[in-house]
Amino acid sequence: MRIASKPKRELRRNSLLGLRLATATDNFKITIMSRPSETDVQQIFDRIAPVYDRFNDLLSLGQHRIWKKMALRWCEPKQGETWLDLCCGSGDMTRLLAKQVAPTGKVIGVDFSRELLAIAAHKTKSYPLNMQKAIAWQQANVLELPFEDSSCNGATISYGLRNVVDIPQCLAELHRVLKAGAKVAILDFHRPSDRLIQSFQNFYLDRVVVPLADRFNMTAEYAYIAPSLARFPIGSEQVQLAKNAGFRQAQHYAIASGMMGILVLQK
Ligand SMILES: C[S@@+](CC[C@H](N)C(=O)[O-])C[C@H]1O[C@@H](n2cnc3c(N)ncnc32)[C@H](O)[C@@H]1O
Repeated sequence: MRIASKPKRELRRNSLLGLRLATATDNFKITIMSRPSETDVQQIFDRIAPVYDRFNDLLSLGQHRIWKKMALRWCEPKQGETWLDLCCGSGDMTRLLAKQVAPTGKVIGVDFSRELLAIAAHKTKSYPLNMQKAIAWQQANVLELPFEDSSCNGATISYGLRNVVDIPQCLAELHRVLKAGAKVAILDFHRPSDRLIQSFQNFYLDRVVVPLADRFNMTAEYAYIAPSLARFPIGSEQVQLAKNAGFRQAQHYAIASGMMGILVLQK
């Protein structure tokens, strides 16, 4: 069903109800469906690309940098190893990984958004040469990874798992390409169990994130976060999915008062 020129207030209410909002930049045309397709997700991230880094810093008050460092501490990448950063986006986590594995190791940032990868590649030019050499960018779908079985020492996914259309397939592909004993850290939003914090998170997503995105003409793209979080499995469910995919160890840690979580896995 296609609805043209929806009032903004209704658009926001739809985002809370968990409906899919696909934007046309001209005046809030929206399509209501239950779940975005892979093409929708790819297009959303291509459109967000120019403001993505600025928004991450603004919306998390810079905290996402700390959470990414926490995730890395849990999976312990070492110099000389080969790591993957899946759903790498503009490449923040890829850069942190490169710092750890350079100069002899390698990190491959994988994403299907051409626009975000272009930004990631542009940022790389300002890194020290040994880090630049350690990084490769690969445009690919993380549900069909273009890597050999048992070829990588570890992997990270930050704010990516929530966006893939088939989480079990993503975990299975990840498991396939990792060596035995390899570690993984998956950072993403989480739904807090505390009612008060839950209300705060809902308020923040609906009344801070969406209006701010509104200013950049990106309302529908950012209204997409709340429904994607509503669909995302909670920590204990993520642990079960990882075990089903074959991971030997899986543990989920709630951080930021339960509003974020880090799933730590070992093959
Ligand atoms: C919220 S961004 C996270 C980017 C980055 N990791 C970060 O922490 O800032 C989610 C990323 O997942 C990517 N993505 C979603 N599904 C994907 C898939 N099936 N294959 C490859 N990339 C995917 C999107 O293109 C987007 O760049």
